[in-house]
Amino acid sequence: MVDFPARPDSGPLSDLDQWEDDLRRRYPEPDNKLAPNSTKTKEEFRAYKADVRPEVKEFYRLNHLHQTVDFVRAKRAEYLPLKKRKMGLWDGLEFLNTLVDDSDPDTRLAQIEHLLQTAEAIRRDGHPKWFILTGLIHDFGKVLCLFGEPQWAVVGDTFPVGCEYSDKIVFAEFLSDNPDSQVAEYQTPCGIYEEGCGLDNVMMSWGHDEYMYHVTKDYLPPEALYMIRYHSFYPAHRDGAYGHLMNAADRKYFNAVKAFNPYDLYTKSAERPDADELRSYYEALWAEFFPPQLAF
Ligand SMILES: [Fe+2]
Repeated sequence: MVDFPARPDSGPLSDLDQWEDDLRRRYPEPDNKLAPNSTKTKEEFRAYKADVRPEVKEFYRLNHLHQTVDFVRAKRAEYLPLKKRKMGLWDGLEFLNTLVDDSDPDTRLAQIEHLLQTAEAIRRDGHPKWFILTGLIHDFGKVLCLFGEPQWAVVGDTFPVGCEYSDKIVFAEFLSDNPDSQVAEYQTPCGIYEEGCGLDNVMMSWGHDEYMYHVTKDYLPPEALYMIRYHSFYPAHRDGAYGHLMNAADRKYFNAVKAFNPYDLYTKSAERPDADELRSYYEALWAEFFPPQLAF
């Protein structure tokens, strides 16, 4: 059993899931009967903006204010050496679970259950083992919160820093308060990058996606790594922004990111997976790809 630090009071959201709950409101599960060119999504988006919760808005205000090139460089230097902690599957899940409100016994297992539900839905659909494992571990990078990072540096939609902001970024208007918006070099379409340079050469706003990519990059196939690294890059995988920075590999593997997204967003259900029963299956799956402990 791991020794858990006290949960830091790190931001406006009552818990990290509130961001993902909000994503489901912004991107409701598609109605399959809807014509491809329906304007429903646009209307829904307008409705979303009209009644978004104040704490979510405040969360994005902070995220967009603080995610600068300098901030991202500093966090990469701090975390990417992966010297914080070594964790196996079950200590990782238990550690993540300390993010939820300990005072409510019904949500005590919320993080474990959400990850198991995601993985189990992928497994039910007959996808390869690496895909199932990706469903299970894609949010492990949220341990950043337990290392003391504020919510706006852990979750939220991600976007490239060091180049012009897309108007597809949610609450893009808050980016005018980001100090980088005053740096001319960062505000051309390609900014500090070259057209078609590939996203691997582009710094994304800092959060759990980029962090977990670095934790797992030696162990999983490229499709899995794209899912992990870009699952919160909604401006690109939902709205097609930033294509001018992508290369052929990005265009190919973004199909995997898109295939993963419904499992991330729409597999929350009232049916509770039996964590103890599933534990041996997932420990064996982990062992097929990863060493007993991963370096975080
Ligand atoms: Fe995530």
